[in-house]
Amino acid sequence: MTAPGWDVPALSSVLEPASREAECIVRLWWWFCGVSAAIWLAVMVFTILALARPNLVRSPRPQPEPGREPRLERSTLAATSLTVAILFALLVSSVSTGRALHASDAEKAPLRIQVTGARWWWQVVYPANPPSQSVETANEIHVPVGTPIVLELQSHDVIHSLWLPELQGKRDLIPGRPAELRFTATRPGTFRGQCAEFCGLQHAHMGLLVIAESSPSFEVWKAAQLRPAEPPTSPDALRGEQVFLSGACPMCHGVRGTPAAASRGPDLTHLMSRSTLGAASLPNTRGHLAGWVLDPQTVKVGSLMPPNPVSAADLQVLLAYLTNLK
Ligand code: CUA
Repeated sequence: MTAPGWDVPALSSVLEPASREAECIVRLWWWFCGVSAAIWLAVMVFTILALARPNLVRSPRPQPEPGREPRLERSTLAATSLTVAILFALLVSSVSTGRALHASDAEKAPLRIQVTGARWWWQVVYPANPPSQSVETANEIHVPVGTPIVLELQSHDVIHSLWLPELQGKRDLIPGRPAELRFTATRPGTFRGQCAEFCGLQHAHMGLLVIAESSPSFEVWKAAQLRPAEPPTSPDALRGEQVFLSGACPMCHGVRGTPAAASRGPDLTHLMSRSTLGAASLPNTRGHLAGWVLDPQTVKVGSLMPPNPVSAADLQVLLAYLTNLK
């Protein structure tokens, strides 16, 4: 499901798995759902039968000796045994699913991606040796279909939780406690993820996208991300670069190939290659970008990005520069 005019999924569903791990989870979900539904139905049927028995009051059965009700004891024992057996079956299936989730695809070297949660966005780094070959982006994780992925999770500030419903279960990002999340995408697509642990004012606007694509498309994307920023050529973009570098932007943002090298906020080297702004809060269009740069507080109250009251002329050249960062 997508919002009108925006090619980004607005909802995610665990019932539409796109990874081996999510398939395990959804199988368990259906099994639990089926067993619970059967139990509910049985309880309803027996309740209705009990209510519909006509002659309980009018012709009471002969009472057994006081203190002993053999029939009641037998049925209680049977019901208890059945309950224990069902709970045990659910426990076994839950544990075996947990084990299946942790059994990684050993035959293939996994692709490791560092995902760091921050108020209120996701830093995404593809580490490499030498570090100059590493790729940094934000709020979008590109993965090749069929390759085991290991997300190395950490947090900058408070506790966050990464949830990619179509790909894996939740995993908390606790400051100082690195964690991992593994999955192997089985089909291409754009999947929406979300922070699943209340982390402050803009918890609800801490989304991200996972783009699963074929290996060749992934390599093309990665090669493009590896390049430094496109140098501005038009007079407007050149002036925009000066506005960008002389303003507050480089205190938080980095643009590779320029003196801006901060990493408190999302890296902007290839800003326009991403489809959203503000961690999946807005479509990444020139108009939304203008509003976001001028006053992020209107879209994300409490966001750590301050308003930038630049003049109309400066805004236009700044936009010319930013929209050149493809
Ligand atoms: Cu981060 Cu909720």
